[in-house]
Amino acid sequence: MILVTGATGQLGSAIINFLLQKIPASQIVGLVRDENKAAALKAKGIHLRLGSYDDPASLDQAMHSVEKVLLVAGTDEANRVQQHRNVLHAAKKAGVPWIGYTSRTLKDRATMANKLMEGHFQTEDDIKASGLAYSLFRNVLYLDTLPQFLGEKVLETGIYLPAGSGKVSFALRREMGEAIANVLATAAPAKPVYTLTGSEAYSFADVADALADITRKAVKYTDAEVSAFEQGLKGRGMPDVVVGRIIGFMTDIKNGQEDEISPDLAQLLGRKPATLREGLKELYKL
Ligand SMILES: NC(=O)c1ccc[n+]([C@@H]2O[C@H](COP(=O)([O-])OP(=O)(O)OC[C@H]3O[C@@H](n4cnc5c(N)ncnc54)[C@H](OP(=O)(O)O)[C@@H]3O)[C@@H](O)[C@H]2O)c1
Repeated sequence: MILVTGATGQLGSAIINFLLQKIPASQIVGLVRDENKAAALKAKGIHLRLGSYDDPASLDQAMHSVEKVLLVAGTDEANRVQQHRNVLHAAKKAGVPWIGYTSRTLKDRATMANKLMEGHFQTEDDIKASGLAYSLFRNVLYLDTLPQFLGEKVLETGIYLPAGSGKVSFALRREMGEAIANVLATAAPAKPVYTLTGSEAYSFADVADALADITRKAVKYTDAEVSAFEQGLKGRGMPDVVVGRIIGFMTDIKNGQEDEISPDLAQLLGRKPATLREGLKELYKL
């Protein structure tokens, strides 16, 4: 059986939905922390196991008869390294031979501005040291996050972000889910690292041009000055920690941390991943 954690989350549920096209529901187990959120999964016939990354006993139970674990990175950025260790230890204790982990595509650990991403590298190190067979799925920034960064009124306001001409090889979350499901469903040994990115990298000027082209409206990108951008967010009442996080993301983009392009996603999908234009049309329903 294959255990997918974060089964009620967006990536986890996408992975399970694609897995269902490849293997019977009876071979899929979803780790969930809230059964009420899992009604749709239950209706599809997959096994559910209740558990939390914070609760080792629940993780021990979840590993019963499992041959592969796909660990979806947790959202509690301050505590997730230990949470991931709990999952890894439970898998090891239960004799699970293989673990997959949804990491991030970031070029240089030493120079990252967004320190919260360091946890991914620490979990990668823990997995490599565990002795288990593994695959690390280094996911690029989801194209799906663009509406959050651009704001609801982007077509009126344009794009104002401190990202310079830095590029991101954006890919859709559901396509990364499909690719990960394809690896999980194969019996053959998987690669230790998959770098899941789009086939092109795009700057925010490219994003503005694509939106302008699709909507026939004038959408411009302004490379914001960091302190003015920071003051603007704080002036709108945004908590300092969130402001710092957004600036960290943008600084890393500016510095080229997210612009790596790999053929892995296209190879696993058996087609080219969605382009920026296709992704924007889907996300904004244009
Ligand atoms: N590449 C990117 O651009 C990007 C963007 C955002 C996030 N991420 C990372 O990728 C992960 C998956 O993304 P997503 O979009 O699927 O996020 P999501 O929808 O928030 O899903 C996260 C999943 O993790 C589960 N989870 C969190 N803490 C847990 C705990 N202590 N014990 C058990 N389960 C726990 C959540 O459970 P519940 O359903 O009960 O909440 C949820 O199912 C995120 O968690 C984050 O680390 C990547």
